[in-house]
Amino acid sequence: MKKKAVYLIIIIIGALLIFSCYKLLHKTSEPVNVPDNTTTRTTTSTTSSTTTTTSTTTKTEVERTVTTTKTTKTTTKKTTTTTTTTKAVPDSTGTTSKGYKIEVKNGITYVDGYLIANKSYGLPKSYNPGSLTSETKKAANEMFEDYIEENNKKMWAQSGFRSYETQKSIYERYVKRDGQAGADRYSARPGNSEHQTGLAFDVCVTGYACISSGFNDTAPAKWLSANAYKYGFILRYPKGKESITGYKHESWHFRYVGKDLAQKLYNDGDWITMEEYFGIDSKYSS
Ligand code: DAL
Ligand code: ZN
Repeated sequence: MKKKAVYLIIIIIGALLIFSCYKLLHKTSEPVNVPDNTTTRTTTSTTSSTTTTTSTTTKTEVERTVTTTKTTKTTTKKTTTTTTTTKAVPDSTGTTSKGYKIEVKNGITYVDGYLIANKSYGLPKSYNPGSLTSETKKAANEMFEDYIEENNKKMWAQSGFRSYETQKSIYERYVKRDGQAGADRYSARPGNSEHQTGLAFDVCVTGYACISSGFNDTAPAKWLSANAYKYGFILRYPKGKESITGYKHESWHFRYVGKDLAQKLYNDGDWITMEEYFGIDSKYSS
């Protein structure tokens, strides 16, 4: 009986011990889980934070893209504005280095009342008289008739008025062939050609090179240089004046200015350019 009681006590104590151990073990597992949970939460938080960061980054990139797009747009706008600015020159007045009055009216520059189209003074894209002016045509026909009478050879204006668009295609063709610097020596950029004024033309004569350096120093080129002023024309790009006019010598290109000024610029055969006479430049700004 005593033995049975001892066994019972041992079993009870054992059971208590097992229960205690279980309790103890259960209590220990909880703190282990807390850090796990914390880690998870932290991770979640980090993930969340990362997501936010990523989102922010994405947003920033989008904003940058937008900004870039805006910048691009701004650049495009700037380019357009520059073109527009070239067109929309405000009316103004000034004085040349030789004291002549410069007037800009509707984007067209007049010096001492004479329309100027060179590398420094351009024309609006829209400026389009459509043909040579009536005064220019009349004077040119008189000159051609007199030449034919004296020389029995036909003289004519091979190229007269040229629109902005026509000049653009001509100039771009030359740029493709000779590069911009090369083309700029003999062809005006669109908006800078005297041909767009309706006051200038290129002469050709039967049997001679037409609108090329082969015409220089020929008999008809000499006749033109000696007589054009009598009809109100000037040899616009004389020999040796490229640094002044901006163009190589063109013995075939004549510009109507009227007899008074033509006589002065003729200068007994030693042609003075409009740039020299008025004290103006002929240079592109870029
Ligand atoms: N050849 C002249 C310069 C022009 O293109 O107007
Ligand atoms: Zn010409």
